[in-house]
Amino acid sequence: MRIVRLLPVLLSAVLVLSCGRRQQYPQQPTVVFGGEMHNSNASTPQSIESSLDIAVSLGFDAVLAPVYWELMEPEQGRFDFTLVDHLLSAAGERGLKLGLLWFGTWKNGESSYPPLWVKGNTQKYFRALDADGNPTTTISPFCTAALEADAAAFSALMSHLAKADRDRVVINVQVENEVGAFLERDFSPAALEAWEQGGWPADTSFLAPQRFMAEAFAKYVDAVAAAGKAEYDIPMFTNAWLMGEKARYGSYPNGGPREAVLDVWKRCAPHLDRLSPDIYAKDFAHFCAVYGGDQPLFIPETKREPGRLWYALGEAAASGVFSFGYEESYDDPLYVYECRTIAEMIPLLRQRLPSRGFWRNPAMDAKDAELSLPLGGVDFKVHYIGGEPNAYGVIVQTGEDEFTVAGVGAWIDFGENVKMAYCEEIRGGGVWQVLNGDETAHHNMLYLRGRLYLEPAVMPGDEGVEVPAPMYGLSYQRRFLKSSHLRFKTSGIYRIKLYSQE
Ligand code: DGJ
Repeated sequence: MRIVRLLPVLLSAVLVLSCGRRQQYPQQPTVVFGGEMHNSNASTPQSIESSLDIAVSLGFDAVLAPVYWELMEPEQGRFDFTLVDHLLSAAGERGLKLGLLWFGTWKNGESSYPPLWVKGNTQKYFRALDADGNPTTTISPFCTAALEADAAAFSALMSHLAKADRDRVVINVQVENEVGAFLERDFSPAALEAWEQGGWPADTSFLAPQRFMAEAFAKYVDAVAAAGKAEYDIPMFTNAWLMGEKARYGSYPNGGPREAVLDVWKRCAPHLDRLSPDIYAKDFAHFCAVYGGDQPLFIPETKREPGRLWYALGEAAASGVFSFGYEESYDDPLYVYECRTIAEMIPLLRQRLPSRGFWRNPAMDAKDAELSLPLGGVDFKVHYIGGEPNAYGVIVQTGEDEFTVAGVGAWIDFGENVKMAYCEEIRGGGVWQVLNGDETAHHNMLYLRGRLYLEPAVMPGDEGVEVPAPMYGLSYQRRFLKSSHLRFKTSGIYRIKLYSQE
């Protein structure tokens, strides 16, 4: 009897012993939505707090925050984890998850974040040289002393996290930031030797220097990631500064995980769980496709443009999408309200139900474009409304013939003889109106009329009388509103059921 009672205790002891020192990583959220902090905002406890407060007000569930090598290891071997610990506690208190960005040897193709004992000692920690032998501001990816120092610091960070992050606030870690060098290739002596030994072609074809640099950076980043994973095995990634394929050397950090060399990175950096795009480029959909596919799409940086966020979550099945510098959204109510509506949709998106997403990209699509989005046996036709400044959204299949649609700036029909059995507008989690009649063209279409955030109007000459603001979009009158931001409608949420009327 006693042994039976003791069994669970014994079993858990065996489990703990068999896991050894290796830290187990708990279940991750399937989808996270948030922003990336401005570069300097994780440098003091008070700016960490301010930054995270803004994240909470936007409805985020995660924030990407930098950890600076120079502040973490001011003297070799002396580590200061004060800021990391503050990030953990401040995010935990606010119910936020964190992704940590390791600003180590490289940030945006330069080496400004290594501590002074590294970047001040250019003999030991040598830099990449241009074709004329001039030094750059980038530590060479062939510098093994720098790699050893970076890997030691990163593994100290990960070993600290394994112990300090008891509540498992950190969901992933980015290793370095937009690596590469603003060069055709590195001409340091070590790089020249590697070029010769690798049998790289003497007649430098356009791709050879790119592949050569990609291999060097990928191997370095992989070794840093491996050192960290040996201490704490959580998902790791690195991010790419994207450029058009015709970009000229010197205008982007050559060697990063750009489209043209993704295969090199996948081969040379097996310890990275994913390669991520920082998508500021116009053709957002293209880069979602390139960096998704055989790996989960995770976008650590993009613009504060709501259409990108809806598209990434609904169409590109992103496991995370983050706007860079979200702290600047104070004067951008469109972004603020859209973020809050996305936050309302996140629990549903997290269920990973079949979905489609759409965005009329102002840089690429016609104002009155149409598109066909088949989903769950229905041919959804999205018709963008020419007069609306913003048009985007998602369609999620929640059951047989049942869908939740969020968005604005378009109307949607469903193919021949398919109508809505009902259409409910959802606000604050509950049914705000049952839409019918004119609002749905007699159940034939879903009009994404969106939400308006307007103050009541005061009638001129009769200052005592307030007229309540309209409840939803009056497309044409909005043009006459004084403050430009009030002219925008933001996404609404609608629950619909379809049926076929043969
Ligand atoms: C990309 C970088 O990765 C970020 O840290 C930041 O510098 C942004 N660019 C600024 O647009």
